[in-house]
Amino acid sequence: MILVTGGAGFIGANFVLDWLAQHDEPVINLDKLTYAGNLETLASLQGDARHLFVHGDIGDAALVSRLLAEHKPRAVVNFAAESHVDRSIHGPEDFIQTNIVGTFHLLESVRAYWGSLPGDEREAFRFLHVSTDEVYGSLGKDDPAFTENHRYEPNSPYSASKAASDHLVRAYHHTYGLPVLTTNCSNNYGPYHFPEKLIPLMIVNALAGKALPVYGDGMQIRDWLYVKDHCSAIRRVLEAGRLGEVYNVGGWNEKPNIEIVNRVCALLDELRPRADGQPYAAQISYVTDRPGHDRRYAIDARKLEAELGWKPAETFETGIRKTVQWYLGNPDWVAHVQSGAYREWVGKQYSGSAA
Ligand code: NAD
Ligand code: DAU
Repeated sequence: MILVTGGAGFIGANFVLDWLAQHDEPVINLDKLTYAGNLETLASLQGDARHLFVHGDIGDAALVSRLLAEHKPRAVVNFAAESHVDRSIHGPEDFIQTNIVGTFHLLESVRAYWGSLPGDEREAFRFLHVSTDEVYGSLGKDDPAFTENHRYEPNSPYSASKAASDHLVRAYHHTYGLPVLTTNCSNNYGPYHFPEKLIPLMIVNALAGKALPVYGDGMQIRDWLYVKDHCSAIRRVLEAGRLGEVYNVGGWNEKPNIEIVNRVCALLDELRPRADGQPYAAQISYVTDRPGHDRRYAIDARKLEAELGWKPAETFETGIRKTVQWYLGNPDWVAHVQSGAYREWVGKQYSGSAA
């Protein structure tokens, strides 16, 4: 079996669902269930003996050590993190605690467990750390995309905390020989994405008749990958990645934010037109920019493609259509994640921020 951390969040839950759709290998899913963790996403696995959910913190060494000793996973895939840049600007502490201190404790528990394994199991064991392209900083308009050798230049408390965790993972390989793999992926989108992030926020706000808040001039560029393609890349790296190596994951899909927002609006115009016949784009509202906002990210995924033969299955067009359709088809999931805590966040982040 494998141990997945953060498997009730957006990417982790998609990974667990896809894994169990393709394998019978069981998953222990350790998640703290912060505001971003949602067991409803995993509802289809209720009663499935291949999925063991454990409510807990990656930083709880006693719990993690017990889980490792009891279940003897052949791999750990670490998704658990605080993941939202704007939240890291309002309050960095949780990011330091989970992304840095939590990852450190997890690595310590895993190192002790790995050291206790018999030869062949020790040989086969893997620790895969899921990271982000944001650790590389911001690109200029004409700069080449990030390769794995790009220097680390994180600019937000979130990306700095992820960079620190990447360094710890690297150090545990070089110092202790821990068999690690790291993936640095670009922006994901798809089903079960918490509506604090750009694409789900735009869909949810548009349908609710609310403003669509675009930061600054809306010309910041992100490189978008459908979440299930990220999951297939992680499976491939876990299966065949070279120990200690870093693999950048991306689908060559750079787009300015305003283009993304307009595309979402156009799909909604087609699939769920406004009652008054007006376009959803009329709801776009430019608001104050994010402090220290990175201008451009772009991933060079040639290493992953050439070495491991990975390719995304979706284009942006097919992926964004599936995503909008998923949100239209799952209003209950959306309504349930929009809890009191969610409303409090939206009030804090967007109050009085019109540009
Ligand atoms: P998310 O915020 O949706 O989910 C994070 C999950 O981790 C939640 O279920 C949460 O409850 C859990 N968690 C948080 N702190 C924990 C702790 N201390 N112990 C155990 N569980 C904890 O995040 P996501 O978007 O699914 O991102 C998953 C990982 O992928 C993160 O490491 C993130 O940095 C990375 N990543 C995300 C993207 C993206 O576009 N979303 C892109 C590249 C990399
Ligand atoms: O690049 C990978 C990263 O992508 C991940 O590591 C992060 O966990 C993930 O949250 C994401 O970070 P971003 O900051 O790029 O994603 P977000 O959806 O918050 O914002 C995408 C872009 O849209 C960014 O340029 C900010 C802008 N934006 C965002 C929001 C929430 C807006 O213009 N308006 C908004 O309301």
